[in-house]
Amino acid sequence: MEYAVRGLGFGHGRTPVFDDFDATIPAGAVTAVIGGNGSGKSTLLNLCAGVIRADAGAISPVPSRPALLAQRTEHIDGLPLTVRDCVRIGMYGQLPPWRPFGAANRRAADEMIERVGMAKYRDARMRDLSGGQRQRTMIAQTMVQPADLYLLDEPSAALDTAGRQLLFALLREKADAGKAVLMATHDGDEIAFADQVINLGRIAIRAEASTRAPRDAEPSIV
Ligand SMILES: Nc1ncnc2c1ncn2[C@@H]1O[C@H](COP(=O)(O)OP(=O)(O)O)[C@@H](O)[C@H]1O
Ligand SMILES: [Mg+2]
Repeated sequence: MEYAVRGLGFGHGRTPVFDDFDATIPAGAVTAVIGGNGSGKSTLLNLCAGVIRADAGAISPVPSRPALLAQRTEHIDGLPLTVRDCVRIGMYGQLPPWRPFGAANRRAADEMIERVGMAKYRDARMRDLSGGQRQRTMIAQTMVQPADLYLLDEPSAALDTAGRQLLFALLREKADAGKAVLMATHDGDEIAFADQVINLGRIAIRAEASTRAPRDAEPSIV
C-alpha cells in the first residue's frame, strides 16, 4: 500500500507552491520531506491531512484517518487544557457518536502520556509547560490516534535527546505496524532516520516563489 500524490497543484492566493507535483508515500516506512524555508513542506502535510484542499490533482487513496502534528499549535495555549485533556482530544475524532470515551480510551491516553515522559505533568496546563514538554504532549496527542497516515511537521523542534529517541521509537513502531509516516524536517538525525526522502528543493522565499517557474517545485527523490 502507498499514498500516491499525483499532479498536485496548489497556491496560497497567487503564490504557487505546487504545480504538477508527484510523490509517493509508502506504508510501512518513514518518509522525510525536506526543503528550504518556504519550499512547501507544511503545505504538503496540510494537503495530505485534508486541512487545505488542492487546486488540482489528488492524493490517492484519500487518507481516511490522517493524524497531523502541525508546525504551529500555539492556539491551544488560549484554552484551559491539561496535558491529559490534550492527549485525549487526539482520540475524539475516532469515537463513534454513540460511544462515550471509555476506560480503554482513558488507559490508552494515560499510557501514551507515560511513554512521552509526561505522567508527572498530566494535570498541568499546556500553557504552563516548557517548549519541549509541550511538544512531547503534542506528539502523544498525534501518536495516540489510530491513524493510517501520520503527518508530523518538524516534530523534534524543541525536543531534547531523550525526547528525540522516544519520538523515533514511536515513529518506527507505526511504520513497523504498516502505517505510513511523513515528516517534514530540517534535522539531520531525522533525515538519517527516514527510509525515504522527498526533497522539495531549493530555498524559495515568497518573493521568488511568486515568479519562479513551476518546474522549480518538482521534487527529487534522494
Ligand atoms: N497561509 C498562508 N498564506 C499565504 N501564503 C502562505 C501561507 N502559508 C504558507 N504560505 C507560503 O507558501 C509557501 C510554502 O510555505 P510552507 O509550506 O509553510 O513552507 P515550509 O513549511 O517548507 O517552510 C511559502 O512561500 C509561504 O510563504
Ligand atoms: Mg513548515
